[in-house]
Amino acid sequence: KSCFSKSMKPMKQFKRPRISKISVVGAGQVGTAISAMLLLRNLTKNLVILDINYELAQAEALDFQHASAFLNDARVVPCGDSTNSKNSDVVIITAGARPSGKDRSRLAAMQKTVEILKKAVPKLVELSPDATFIIISNPADVMTYAVQRITNLPKHRCFTTGCHLDTVRFRNLIANRLRLPPSQVHGYVIGEHGASAVPVWSSVSIAGIRLNDVVKNLACGDDPENWAKINKQVTTGGLAVAKTKGYTNWAIALTCADIVQAMSGGKGKIACVGTDMKGLSGIQDNVVLSLPCLVTSGGISHVFELPLTDVEQSKLLASANILLEAQCSLSI
Ligand code: LAC
Repeated sequence: KSCFSKSMKPMKQFKRPRISKISVVGAGQVGTAISAMLLLRNLTKNLVILDINYELAQAEALDFQHASAFLNDARVVPCGDSTNSKNSDVVIITAGARPSGKDRSRLAAMQKTVEILKKAVPKLVELSPDATFIIISNPADVMTYAVQRITNLPKHRCFTTGCHLDTVRFRNLIANRLRLPPSQVHGYVIGEHGASAVPVWSSVSIAGIRLNDVVKNLACGDDPENWAKINKQVTTGGLAVAKTKGYTNWAIALTCADIVQAMSGGKGKIACVGTDMKGLSGIQDNVVLSLPCLVTSGGISHVFELPLTDVEQSKLLASANILLEAQCSLSI
């Protein structure tokens, strides 16, 4: 028994497919950026770009296909009606209704996106029954719950990149403040990919030194260095970008590519991704949210129950309640 046997909860055993074909559903700014990252990082030889607007899918696919010689001769094909996505190893879903008007919150366009998924996803699963589905469409946790309900896909291979993005934003903000390389800062953000995300300050460490041990009252109300400012910067990071350009795409695309890489290298990676976490870290309902997971070729193989302070634990449960409420408000 390893010393982690208490905190690691293995998910059900699963097949480990080799990734060769990937379908990206949605040829908007996010889907296209993800396609670019997958191709540039040589994560697929066979990419399908699928959009209900076939002409758009065709134009984006052709634009990449022209440069195939610079992309390890990858094949990029468009798809309008799912057929070309047959036998994908990974299906990445970015399609959804755009948040519009003043309320850019992720919960706004929710039901509209569920309707889009209800139409698109069953066919995709029928054509690629063994694929791992990665849900990017926002609100990502709630949409992952919706796809799990629509399809009955097992939770280890239907998940969202979730707080993996919030986690890199968190690490980046801490690194900037300490003038350290972001990749060398450790720590996690868990819960919702959105406003109620929980930066786990007690998990932050650099070179094995816990930030908690060297900063007094770290990120608490009476923290003189005001680290708590970072909490807000993490949860509003996406909005800060979208305010000006209307959307975010590069950071989420790199986050998604990082997860696909974890699935293709054979090594795996621990990342805060989101799936149904019932029974873990005090979550009692079927709620999709992020906790640190080992992501390997077949999807999520283990979930880690991160030690949390009482405050962090209650923030996680509050986040779970917000998500549960959103899930219940859907008609699936
Ligand atoms: C963001 C979007 C992907 O946080 O939700 O950038």
